[in-house]
Amino acid sequence: MPGPLPAPIAPGQPLTALAPMQDVTDLAFMRVVASYGAPDYFFTEFFRVHAQSRPERHILRSIDENDTGRPVFAQLIGEDIPHILRTVEELLRHPVAGIDLNLGCPAPKVYKKNVGGGLLRDPDRIASILSALRAAVPGLLTVKMRIGFEDDQHFERILDVVNSSGIDLLTVHGRTVRDLYRGRVRYDRIAHAAASARCPVLANGNATSARRAEGIVRETGCAGVMIGRHAIRNPWIFRQCRERFGGAPEHRPTLGEVRGYVERLYRETKGEGVPERYHVSRMKKYLNFVGQGVDPRGDFLRDMRRAVTESDLFGACDRHMLSSPQAEFSEEPYPGVVARPNCESPDACHLESAPA
Ligand SMILES: Cc1cc2nc3c(=O)[nH]c(=O)nc-3n(C[C@H](O)[C@H](O)[C@H](O)COP(=O)(O)O)c2cc1C
Repeated sequence: MPGPLPAPIAPGQPLTALAPMQDVTDLAFMRVVASYGAPDYFFTEFFRVHAQSRPERHILRSIDENDTGRPVFAQLIGEDIPHILRTVEELLRHPVAGIDLNLGCPAPKVYKKNVGGGLLRDPDRIASILSALRAAVPGLLTVKMRIGFEDDQHFERILDVVNSSGIDLLTVHGRTVRDLYRGRVRYDRIAHAAASARCPVLANGNATSARRAEGIVRETGCAGVMIGRHAIRNPWIFRQCRERFGGAPEHRPTLGEVRGYVERLYRETKGEGVPERYHVSRMKKYLNFVGQGVDPRGDFLRDMRRAVTESDLFGACDRHMLSSPQAEFSEEPYPGVVARPNCESPDACHLESAPA
């Protein structure tokens, strides 16, 4: 029998997890987030499983060199059972907290191969994969799923499969694959999963602030919450969750502190030898989210998107963050200020594929 889930930072409070995000949640990003207040759990970007795959080295680094003190679950995406088992055998040689199966990625090039969100069309296939995984994983086995592909017609059946597979933790993103990252999140479906699952459930989708996270946990009855894009915008969010869940006043970062976050992100995520222009362009992927809380008109976003050099980029930060450094960074994204377009495009999941 697998042991219990790893101890949370604040026992008795709802759990928090940083959502896996391809091209975002690498070792550097996990370290940056942890420096502002770690989540209880990390999940890696997905390891791709196919006939020629080997666990990607840069993703392995987020496990092997992780010095945040928090457990890391290794996520994989695939459907071929022998190759999944071969990958799991390799991953279990690393200090993983558990193995997580991705049943949600909505990128067409992914789901067309019947992996990730594509598997939600085939509950029997999910049952076979989970049964093989359960037999191969002596420790914790977890699943991250959406509520369906086109609609939620198989949701009940998949919950049955998940329940009978003996998994240890389930995360439910309350959207279908067709919804991508837009539109309403079906917290009622997440609540249903939480009520019927035999394991703890994490609610996922649009936890925009600690206040919302608390509301989502209350509304769904979940054991905790998994937060993705809003932790890119606001890396203090896990600390704020703990403060709020514990009844303490929440830290309210100022724009001056956000300027510090951008600088830390720039430094920590810059690989050796990476050309400045390339890195500036990559930084825009994070800043698209950060900018949602800087000013209500999106002026920082427009300014930052024109940056080519490091000095352009920090010039934009200085103009918009240091003119009133004590001003509060918005708790919620400003309405209408959109982090375009990467995560909302049909190629979702690939920040790299986004025009900067
Ligand atoms: C850029 C990006 C990359 C993502 N990559 C993954 C991934 O590798 N595995 C996964 O299960 N979900 C992935 N997701 C989905 C997130 O884990 C999460 O389910 C989704 O963003 C909804 O949560 P949020 O509203 O808190 O962001 C990704 C999302 C984004 C925006």
